[in-house]
Amino acid sequence: MGKAASTVSSLLCCPCRCLFCGVLSCLLSVLTCVLFSAGLVALILYLLFRPHIIRATAVSADLSAFTLTPRTWILLYNLSLAVQLHNPNSRIALHYLDVAARAYYEGQPLADARLPDLFQGTGETSSLKPQLAGDAPLVGGVAAAGFRREAAEGATFSLDVKISAHIKLSLWVITVPGPKTQIDCPVRIQRRNATDDDRPPPEFHPTECRVWF
Ligand SMILES: *[C@@H]1O[C@H](CO)[C@@H](O)[C@H](O)[C@H]1NC(C)=O
Ligand SMILES: *[C@@H]1O[C@H](CO)[C@@H](O)[C@H](O)[C@H]1NC(C)=O
Repeated sequence: MGKAASTVSSLLCCPCRCLFCGVLSCLLSVLTCVLFSAGLVALILYLLFRPHIIRATAVSADLSAFTLTPRTWILLYNLSLAVQLHNPNSRIALHYLDVAARAYYEGQPLADARLPDLFQGTGETSSLKPQLAGDAPLVGGVAAAGFRREAAEGATFSLDVKISAHIKLSLWVITVPGPKTQIDCPVRIQRRNATDDDRPPPEFHPTECRVWF
């Protein structure tokens, strides 16, 4: 058993033994062995702690401005959104770096916003609150017609908010770079009418976001 195992390990660890001799051969076989075991440990750790995908939900939204100027077709907007992120992993903590949010209307990009880096411990839920305000030209008659239709139908607009981040995974003291993450929240938000303050703000239905890498 011991002999068979050592034959296997020398086959695995030293494919180059026949080409080199002495110290060099020994160094090479040790190096190959170390690399091979490190790979094996990484694979086992991955299989044991296989990361669960994060969950993201848009929990509240406020659209305090969303108007299209006639003729010039400039869209004025002011959107604030709260997205809750949940890390379902019981052993892996997450660092979110280079976090950015961008809103799209009728497939056309509006403003983007940088968000602060975020550290999320195991099982934690945290929120991202992008505030997107500004103006942008709305290109094409189809998009403008879409705006007029939604404005007429109770001023409830369909926007897409995409959040991107680089993720690092931490397991005990080990931190490894993770994939680039995209969070895609398709939301329907009713425009708030600033002139009547005494009315409650429009209701927002929490929306599940798609998360992909
Ligand atoms: C957008 O709306 C928020 C809250 O309604 C307000 O505090 C902020 O000043 C507005 N931003 C712009 C650029 O109008
Ligand atoms: C706000 O409401 C008032 C009356 O309810 C209406 O006249 C006005 O056009 C509304 N404004 C917007 C931006 O919807």
